[in-house]
Amino acid sequence: MVSPCGPAARTDYGRAVTTIFTWRGGFANAEVNSLHAEAFQTKVFDESEWNWVALTRRHSLGWVVARQGDGLVGFVNVLWDGLVHAWLQDTMVARRARGEGIGAALVAHARDGAKAAGCEYLHVDFDDHLRPFYLGACGFAPTSAGLLVLERAGLDLSAPTIGGAPEA
Ligand SMILES: CC(C)(COP(=O)(O)OP(=O)(O)OC[C@H]1O[C@@H](n2cnc3c(N)ncnc32)[C@H](O)[C@@H]1OP(=O)(O)O)[C@@H](O)C(=O)NCCC(=O)NCCS
Repeated sequence: MVSPCGPAARTDYGRAVTTIFTWRGGFANAEVNSLHAEAFQTKVFDESEWNWVALTRRHSLGWVVARQGDGLVGFVNVLWDGLVHAWLQDTMVARRARGEGIGAALVAHARDGAKAAGCEYLHVDFDDHLRPFYLGACGFAPTSAGLLVLERAGLDLSAPTIGGAPEA
């Protein structure tokens, strides 16, 4: 399903730039690893270390890809319990495209995809500074949540953040 994000989000040198959001859209490992490195200040993993294509197909309910032309400007992964609970992981927008509503639209498309799949709850956890984004722009209700940091799976994450560490 291809769903344009309303009218053109911005203009570059007078040309309209439209962002296209696609639930379970196609992507390459290299472009998502590059976006992830920019978003979470990690090294750029290669696909032998972090194979998004294989992992999302095996473990995800879906994911949302945001593109401007051929360029990947946003991505979010949606994990689930196989029934009614889904979770957002790794919401990320390219620095050059931030502040234009793409992050909130990514989350809205993830919500719609999870709802269409029969899920009743969409969860997310995040650092405090992102409260205006998730609770304000994306409409999540605040809850209590907990986190146990487990042993890492051998990846060198120099600056781990909630939402940035790979699943074991
Ligand atoms: C967080 C992130 C996905 C937001 O993407 P975005 O496209 O810039 O967000 P939007 O334009 O949809 O923002 C909508 C509103 O959310 C709030 N918001 C967005 N980013 C925010 C941030 N970093 N801190 C606090 N509030 C933020 C603002 O109120 C914003 O409205 P405004 O632009 O009118 O002020 C993006 O900054 C990003 O990729 N960050 C790095 C990775 C990351 O931390 N991801 C979250 C993991 S839990």
